[in-house]
Amino acid sequence: MFFEETGFADRMQGVSGSAIRAIFNLLSQPGMISFAGGMPAASALEPDVVADISQAVLRADGVRILQYGATEGWPALKQAAPAFLKNAGVEASPTQILPTSGSMQAVDLLLRALINPGDVVLVENPTFLGSLQAMRLVQADIRPVDTDDEGIIPEALEEAIIKYRPKAAYLIPTFQNPTGITLTLPRRKAVAELAAKHRVVVIEDDPYRDLCYSGEKLPAIKSFDDSGYVVYLTSFSKVISPGLRVGALVADDPLMAKCIIVKQAADTHSSSLPQAIVAEYLNRGILPSHIDSICASYRAQLEAMLGKLAAFPEGVRYTRPRGGLFVWVWLPRGIDGTELLQRAIERKVAFVPGASFYCDGSGVNTMRLNFSNASLDIIERGMDTLREVVQEAVVKNR
Ligand SMILES: Cc1ncc(COP(=O)(O)O)c(C=O)c1O
Repeated sequence: MFFEETGFADRMQGVSGSAIRAIFNLLSQPGMISFAGGMPAASALEPDVVADISQAVLRADGVRILQYGATEGWPALKQAAPAFLKNAGVEASPTQILPTSGSMQAVDLLLRALINPGDVVLVENPTFLGSLQAMRLVQADIRPVDTDDEGIIPEALEEAIIKYRPKAAYLIPTFQNPTGITLTLPRRKAVAELAAKHRVVVIEDDPYRDLCYSGEKLPAIKSFDDSGYVVYLTSFSKVISPGLRVGALVADDPLMAKCIIVKQAADTHSSSLPQAIVAEYLNRGILPSHIDSICASYRAQLEAMLGKLAAFPEGVRYTRPRGGLFVWVWLPRGIDGTELLQRAIERKVAFVPGASFYCDGSGVNTMRLNFSNASLDIIERGMDTLREVVQEAVVKNR
């Protein structure tokens, strides 16, 4: 067939759809318990609050909201964002902030502005599979850097920078997706120094920072950056609503100017209504109490999941995150996460096999578990079933 043989661009070769999107199709089966996506709890979404804010902003500024807007973003959001970013230690003026359609678009804009086919991008291994997909679509040469339970190892990062001369390093330093691991303070400083020293763009993707359940919130890598080589990405998906699709990119010119050009070609500008809603949400000062309330629930859900993991068979290891939405599990060697998913789905439990988060085909014996989108009793029931499925796989594997 024409399209199969010659019709698609080279960049589509070997780029598959997201594993998570494929699993989403299974989740509609009745009775399915999902530890798969990274979705906020239904109870964390506030349709009534958003309806009220929508009405207010449309009444106040409806014609402007419904008209074409500036690629640079909705002014009220650019004005409100600096105070929000300050919580992460990020100092930014409105001109350094580009609202995007989720932080996913910010990743894509940066990659398209920076990467030629074959340019190296360094990543934690595993890392967010949506960003891996975007990297593959610009034909980046994706190289893993060693990490441990304190995040990326600065010495390994410097070694990889010297060896591969990358254009960019993509990091999720806080409550990482998929592992939940957080980069320590000294390492954050070290990464900012390496970005400046070697003139490598560090893309700091930080959508989970406010979902902190214990311990202190650490300042962003960007807060230690004087060179402009660290670009900061934030998102309102996990704390207000993923459906609104509002995130932001913080960068300086000339990179910012290039991202604006790419965004013009991509979507002219992000929809004004969601941007205006998020701006008003921030201006009403209701975000801190909302974050406190969702964190209280997510903390209990995380604890319930960790409590159940403690009873998993010997040889199963897992992270104990202080925040975010995920627990990462290493299964005993020889157990394949994708095969395990088939067994789990038969028993009506879903998760994401870990392999798709690795850039190099490793991680077959891993899985990512989300705890935010299931109630405590469902977590307990689902984890009991998953333990049985893992136990059966362990016995078979002997
Ligand atoms: C690390 C990371 N970056 C970006 C995104 C995309 O988020 P958004 O909804 O803001 O596009 C996600 C979503 O799961 C994520 O985990």
